Amino acid sequence: MKNMLINGTYLAKKNIGQGSFGSVYMGINTKSKEEVAIKFEKCEKDNSDGSTLLREAETLKDLQNIKGIPKLYYYGTEQNYNIMVMTLLDRDLEHYIKIKKNFQIDKVISIGEQLLNILEGIHKKGYIHRDIKPENILFGRGKESNTVFLIDFGITKPYIDRKTNEIIPYRTNKPFIGTIRYASVAAHKGFELSRRDDLESMGYVLCYLAKGNLPWQNMLLQDDMKKYYVGKIKQKMPIKKLCKGLPEEFALYFEYIQQLEYKQEPKYDYLKSLFAKASKSLTGLFSPDLPSPIDKDGFSSPSFQSPSFSNINHSLDIAKENSKEEKEKRPKIDSLQEEEKD
Ligand SMILES: Nc1ncnc2c1ncn2[C@@H]1O[C@H](COP(=O)(O)OP(=O)(O)OP(=O)(O)O)[C@@H](O)[C@H]1O
Ligand SMILES: [Mg+2]
Repeated sequence: MKNMLINGTYLAKKNIGQGSFGSVYMGINTKSKEEVAIKFEKCEKDNSDGSTLLREAETLKDLQNIKGIPKLYYYGTEQNYNIMVMTLLDRDLEHYIKIKKNFQIDKVISIGEQLLNILEGIHKKGYIHRDIKPENILFGRGKESNTVFLIDFGITKPYIDRKTNEIIPYRTNKPFIGTIRYASVAAHKGFELSRRDDLESMGYVLCYLAKGNLPWQNMLLQDDMKKYYVGKIKQKMPIKKLCKGLPEEFALYFEYIQQLEYKQEPKYDYLKSLFAKASKSLTGLFSPDLPSPIDKDGFSSPSFQSPSFSNINHSLDIAKENSKEEKEKRPKIDSLQEEEKD
């Protein structure tokens, strides 16, 4: 795809990302000279399901007015590729975790506040994202370098039935969808997902960003077994233990999410107020005479990391647990199903 000119305007220059659906290139709008990101998907001859990238582009178009959603510049098919051109962003958060281990807590809170706004916007438009993970969260570039963006709407789905205008009926026995490490307990159980599940995954992502790891990360198991055991661990893990070392509002966040029912609209303002409180209680923790533990990029310097945050096995975990291998879009139904009331 390198050097391919798309729609006579966008020139693909350098590969910057690989996903399960295709590749992403950095490119340039040859007319305006603006840099762009270009996502390619090979056209399948026998694609009865339709193009995933076309569905993603349609969803992205619907979400255009939300802050933290990349702008969609072009969608089309050329030289046997479906192609989508959008805003070029910085590296994804997993890239930074790999090189820096964890994010400073105030940065994590700021990411949480911004993600909440993005998810609220997406949910208000009638969609659930279903794949909240660090690889799909990126900061912007230039004057947007402190703005959080959410990408990858490949498995985003409307949770409202367009015909009846009602929330899709609750169902069980659904195939697992999402990414094992950040999936909600309901996703592990094969339940129909709803707004609460995006928020639960977001909670796991924030814990991961703050600590650099999650308790269910080291499992050397086949995918089906891993799906089952990780689901069990998440279900049994006391919130206090999961949130140990983090501001107490993180536990309150999970407590609130856990009691939400399938159809219930989350109180985004309450969750935002938790992050605001956590952020406020951080200021004042450090005397102005002390050197700031927060470096320019928002990463903790090693001397300020609490021992419980450090994880010498982290790079090993990453090697063992490649996120591609973790992810299953259309796998078999596993045996973790339990009944749950609507
Ligand atoms: N607009 C963008 N700007 C910069 N980098 C991007 C952009 N879009 C995607 N990327 C990079 O490419 C990677 C893959 O993109 P994306 O998640 O959209 O692909 P995918 O095939 O749907 O992935 P997945 O394996 O999660 O299903 C991202 O994790 C990110 O690193
Ligand atoms: Mg992705």
